[in-house]
Amino acid sequence: MTPVVRKVLVTGSGGLIAGALVRDLADRYDFTGQDIARPSHPTVPTTVGDLSNMEDVRRALDGMDAVVHLGADSRQDAPWSSVLPNNLVATRNVFDACRDAGIKRVVFASSNHAVGMHELDDPYSRIRVGDYEGLDPDNVPQIDHTVQIRPDGHYGVSKAYGEATGAYYAENFGLEVACLRIGTVNRANRPMDIRQLATWCSHRDIVQLIRLCLDHEPLRFDIFYGVSNNKWRFWDIDHARDVLGYAPQDNAEDYRDSI
Ligand SMILES: NC(=O)c1ccc[n+]([C@@H]2O[C@H](COP(=O)([O-])OP(=O)(O)OC[C@H]3O[C@@H](n4cnc5c(N)ncnc54)[C@H](O)[C@@H]3O)[C@@H](O)[C@H]2O)c1
Repeated sequence: MTPVVRKVLVTGSGGLIAGALVRDLADRYDFTGQDIARPSHPTVPTTVGDLSNMEDVRRALDGMDAVVHLGADSRQDAPWSSVLPNNLVATRNVFDACRDAGIKRVVFASSNHAVGMHELDDPYSRIRVGDYEGLDPDNVPQIDHTVQIRPDGHYGVSKAYGEATGAYYAENFGLEVACLRIGTVNRANRPMDIRQLATWCSHRDIVQLIRLCLDHEPLRFDIFYGVSNNKWRFWDIDHARDVLGYAPQDNAEDYRDSI
């Protein structure tokens, strides 16, 4: 199927997820990158700039059809002094500049940490440490896109703020916004500990989700979890399946013996 959008700005193009995205989908989209640091992916022409600077954002957006907004301080324990410019101001700048430039579609990299406190409730608190006593993996109530926002730090707050900002620009200015509450995407591309047996998202599954969010019609505002089809996952993928046709290919359970 011919994609709806072609020219796509990837913010944070020097980062991990951006690397997987441009590697796998370079023949589908005309990617341009933007990062505060010069990235090493030779396949993406990159503008070096700071997303907390509106002029840098406007320059990077020139001529684009859509944005995948990955640029941020991605550390769960990032200090407020970094979260404020790199996550809050930057995200507001991206949405505001998209509105001004007439760019409709934004895929925003949110995080499971926007709702991270749910994970400390039973049974998730047990699953994350591998205590499966009395639990049936097929009947674990899933944390879905309708749960209360319960961030577990400034980083999680910044992702909840990004979702709220996306909703504001969608409802008031007609942007089309998909927020991905991403689980754990890592360089090894496999679960590295017991928690990640629940939270892991493979490179090809997160790339599939981003592609679906770029191409899907119609889209107004929605939230999806970026997680593979893990046996012990506790974040919902039915909504992404129903709305987008997400069909994850990986399951962390296949790696249990190597942990
Ligand atoms: N990897 C994960 O497991 C995971 C989980 C949940 C959410 N996310 C989110 O997905 C996005 C991508 O994650 P990642 O793992 O590739 O992160 P990453 O840290 O590898 O990449 C982020 C990139 O953003 C750039 N950046 C930071 N501040 C910037 C600024 N002010 N202007 C321009 N560029 C800036 C950094 O230089 C970096 O290259 C992030 O927003 C992150 O919070 C990732």
